[in-house]
Amino acid sequence: MTTPTDQALLLDHVDMRIVAADITDATADRNTIVQLDPDHPGFRDPEYRARRNRIAQIALEYKPGALIPDAPYTEEEHEVWRTIWEALTFAHQQHACREYLECVKRLELPHDRIPQLREVSEKVETISGFRLEPVAGLVEPRVFLESLAEGVFLSTQYIRHHSTPLYTPEPDVAHEIIGHAVTLASPRLAELNRLVGRAVKRTISAGALERLARLYWFTIEFGVLREDDKLKAYGTGLLSSAGELEAMHNAELRPLDLEAASRQDFNPTDFQPVLFCANSFDEMYETLKHYLLRWE
Ligand SMILES: [Fe+2]
Repeated sequence: MTTPTDQALLLDHVDMRIVAADITDATADRNTIVQLDPDHPGFRDPEYRARRNRIAQIALEYKPGALIPDAPYTEEEHEVWRTIWEALTFAHQQHACREYLECVKRLELPHDRIPQLREVSEKVETISGFRLEPVAGLVEPRVFLESLAEGVFLSTQYIRHHSTPLYTPEPDVAHEIIGHAVTLASPRLAELNRLVGRAVKRTISAGALERLARLYWFTIEFGVLREDDKLKAYGTGLLSSAGELEAMHNAELRPLDLEAASRQDFNPTDFQPVLFCANSFDEMYETLKHYLLRWE
């Protein structure tokens, strides 16, 4: 088996491979057929692949605003979720910012089973107005980011393969819920997500869209800040992985200069060597908010 350092640690919606979409279907740009790379942990597991296809079908048939049908998780997959939470409970106490820990308490997510997107979405919506809608896999960065403007987070619903419970090469329901949905239970983080979406909607050129995608990566996905002189995470890519939370302490920390972050390349195939660090949650919120409001 290849190790995570050989492969993408977290391909995400802002660094996706371009997917083919059937433009004759209005919802096709949100969805793609499940195609696993030969080095994907689930590539040789026909049951896993069949389940991935069934879960993808839910997204393909989903009509925005409707209740999200339950995904057919197996007991083995619930065990993956338990393993992830076991690793993260301690890691969060050590490395997560206070705003995130408060959101975890607020949502009261189950640790013994994978919650369904429907139930998580209902809880988040009552707090920040954000709701989750299922997608089959990675979607175009513009589609993903623009949906944030409407208070919609496009979320995958499958879970990573049980052979690698602490590693996923693509966003899965653990990353979406433990990272994104939890942070969207923070009204301020939800507002920043909406502002990213609105800025993307005002953006025409591909180069400017790429800068916003980088900005999203270095803040919403991999943002860090200081609290009581300690380095803490508010980024979803960090908060959904115990390995990332440990590794962030080895990164080169740069001041939260959003202009620089928007021009900083990143490599999703390894732990991030460079992170942008705010002096506080408040500073991060104000800086990012005003930058996005001024974005032309
Ligand atoms: Fe993400």
